[in-house]
Amino acid sequence: MTLTAESTRTGTAPSLRDLVHELAEAKDAVVLAHNYQSPEIQDAAHFVGDSLQLSRIAAETPQTTIIFCGVHFMAETAKILAPDKTVLIPDAAAGCSLADSLTADELRAWKAENPGAVVVSYVNTTAAVKAETDICCTSSNAVEVVASIPADTPVLFGPDQFLGAHVRRVLKRDNIQVWGGECHVHAGINGAELAAKAAADPEAELYVHPECGCATSALYLAGTGVVAADRVKILSTGDMVKAAQGKKTGAVLVATEIGMIHQLRKAAPGVDFRPVNERASCKYMKMITPEKLLRSLREGTDEVHVDPAIAARARASVERMIAIGTPGTGE
Ligand code: 13P
Ligand code: SF4
Repeated sequence: MTLTAESTRTGTAPSLRDLVHELAEAKDAVVLAHNYQSPEIQDAAHFVGDSLQLSRIAAETPQTTIIFCGVHFMAETAKILAPDKTVLIPDAAAGCSLADSLTADELRAWKAENPGAVVVSYVNTTAAVKAETDICCTSSNAVEVVASIPADTPVLFGPDQFLGAHVRRVLKRDNIQVWGGECHVHAGINGAELAAKAAADPEAELYVHPECGCATSALYLAGTGVVAADRVKILSTGDMVKAAQGKKTGAVLVATEIGMIHQLRKAAPGVDFRPVNERASCKYMKMITPEKLLRSLREGTDEVHVDPAIAARARASVERMIAIGTPGTGE
């Protein structure tokens, strides 16, 4: 008996998760959700993760349809990696201010000014920008990707200035030019707010996403001894979950989009996770609602298309990234 028939019989409404799983099975679909989705979408999905983890699942999943609960560049990346599958995003208007901060024309002009440089682009970019890129990276492997390029080869890194600054700092390399783009949500998590929260809670650990405007401040606080260096961790969203797993008690100040708190609390229910900025919510991520997810499953909306010639060039840069892997995972 279907859930709908069963709920009519018993007079109880099925949960969103049950409905999504039943529809997904009927449509041979897998539902992926980014860590910044609202808790109800995360709980209804088959897999929740960071952008690299979800790209990998998209590339390997046996289902013929992928429903990507995230923003448009993520669904586009899934289509690039799985061109024969149907890729749907419940709302195609879910964009990304960071991806908008570098166009393919701007990247072509930057490359023309710097012949011989290797281009590394964050996955938060359009397919057209990925097609102009040598190697993609995500926040979980940006350092490893740039480290794989010979030390004397110049690098153009875009579009995120804070992630670029993080890579330069870790690798102590001055031949990396960084594009001046930013994510409006992470740029708004500032150093003063982080310093005040850290001072008010001297025992708390700090999990900081490298896209944040406060990542430099976090390392400055650690460097000057205001916060013990071992309390400060610069992590991608997926690595935040890994860092939380196994922790039993204590408090953690979390500097990233607030959707992250849900997975952290599930990973370590005894730990007090607190956002550094409670207003750090990505309006694009939150455009994916239960109603739009159900419509997507029932009606096949909104299908994501990528021009095959652009997709072929973009695939090469994404596959180079996937081949490099992530630190600490053994992958
Ligand atoms: P992750 O790569 O850590 O999942 O982050 C993606 C993103 O959009 C950050 O704002
Ligand atoms: Fe883009 Fe920022 Fe939203 Fe991430 S949080 S999807 S980088 S706008």
